[in-house]
Amino acid sequence: MDLFEYQAKELFAKHNVPTTPGRVTESADDAKAIAEEIGKPVMIKAQVKVGGRGKAGGVKYAATPDDALTHATNILGLDIKGHVVKRLLVAEASDIAEEYYISFLLDRANRTYLAMCSVEGGMEIEEVAATKPDRLAKVAVDPIAGVDVAFARSIAEQGHLPAEVLDAAAVTIAKLWDVFVAEDATLVEVNPLVRTPDDQILALDGKVTLDENASFRHADHEAFVDRDATDPLELKAKENDLNYVKLDGQVGIIGNGAGLVMSTLDVVAYAGENHGGVKPANFLDIGGGASAEVMAAGLDVILGDSQVKSVFVNVFGGITSCDAVANGIVKALEILGDEANKPLVVRLDGNNVEAGRKILADANHPLVIQAETMDAGADKAAELANK
Ligand SMILES: Nc1ncnc2c1ncn2[C@@H]1O[C@H](COP(=O)(O)OP(=O)(O)OP(=O)(O)O)[C@@H](O)[C@H]1O
Ligand SMILES: [Mg+2]
Repeated sequence: MDLFEYQAKELFAKHNVPTTPGRVTESADDAKAIAEEIGKPVMIKAQVKVGGRGKAGGVKYAATPDDALTHATNILGLDIKGHVVKRLLVAEASDIAEEYYISFLLDRANRTYLAMCSVEGGMEIEEVAATKPDRLAKVAVDPIAGVDVAFARSIAEQGHLPAEVLDAAAVTIAKLWDVFVAEDATLVEVNPLVRTPDDQILALDGKVTLDENASFRHADHEAFVDRDATDPLELKAKENDLNYVKLDGQVGIIGNGAGLVMSTLDVVAYAGENHGGVKPANFLDIGGGASAEVMAAGLDVILGDSQVKSVFVNVFGGITSCDAVANGIVKALEILGDEANKPLVVRLDGNNVEAGRKILADANHPLVIQAETMDAGADKAAELANK
């Protein structure tokens, strides 16, 4: 999950990374009030999850509260590379002597963590990498040893930061590493990390990506989810711990195992070519245990998609045998009652398939149609979606 700058700075504050005080708001009048509270010149900063905000006119200096009002009014609603600005960070403006760059990230290619540091901050780091690669230090970080102040100092030195600020930079960089580890981030980037005229080191920008696989140990990260930007069906699926991705099609898909579901999407898209070009409506992997509750929750999400015209349930019984899955489907339809209102093509195969098919046949539910094979099921579901 990518965070907004103001959220990244909340995490910075939690780990004592020095920055300038500020507050986020959605209104221009409030931006003026915050500027009055701060009582000094401020920066008005568009909060969008895209780079190059400054160049796009989304970062402005306001000497007075009235300037803050003017800039805030102009920046709210601004479209920055397809992201419309809804929130602003109003932060005390800092005097800047120099701008540096620092980041910690996951280096997948080398199976380690990486620190990147450069005396050339403020501009896009890709540009530094391309034009002045010798000014950009890339330092591997041992995940066990981590980054203490001494190692942080060496990173700053390799990034060619001036000798006078190495000690101060080391302290800030070590704290940014604390953020990276303690918050389970895969990216912590500060551009610019600034040197003030009195040689303080401050993080004036912040970009953090959190590893959602670790969200179970960070209850507080839930508050960072940008609900406005998340598809409501995906939100609902997430609340039910379902692996669901909304797509733009008419055939709802439920399967077990990511590989099977991916190939089901392909087969349905292929079958759809013969039926008016219908397409799969989603990815949904209900995983190993296809209990009635999980099946009902999955169906509920899929049927909530008004584009869906039919559903294809494609399950291979392994550890969870087909009879258990069939019982799950029958009970799920009971749980959903009238909510279940689209035809359901079911293909079962694998462990205990005969028993599973018999359970469905005996239940004789008016919406359920059984298919012998994956291809036949996909074809039937596509045909029904095209009606
Ligand atoms: N609090 C501040 N005080 C003084 N100057 C600031 C402050 N915040 C930002 N700036 C100036 O504005 C420039 C751009 O700000 P920032 O880095 O936050 O946005 P950006 O780089 O344009 O956006 P992105 O990081 O999304 O690409 C900084 O390089 C810095 O010179
Ligand atoms: Mg920046």
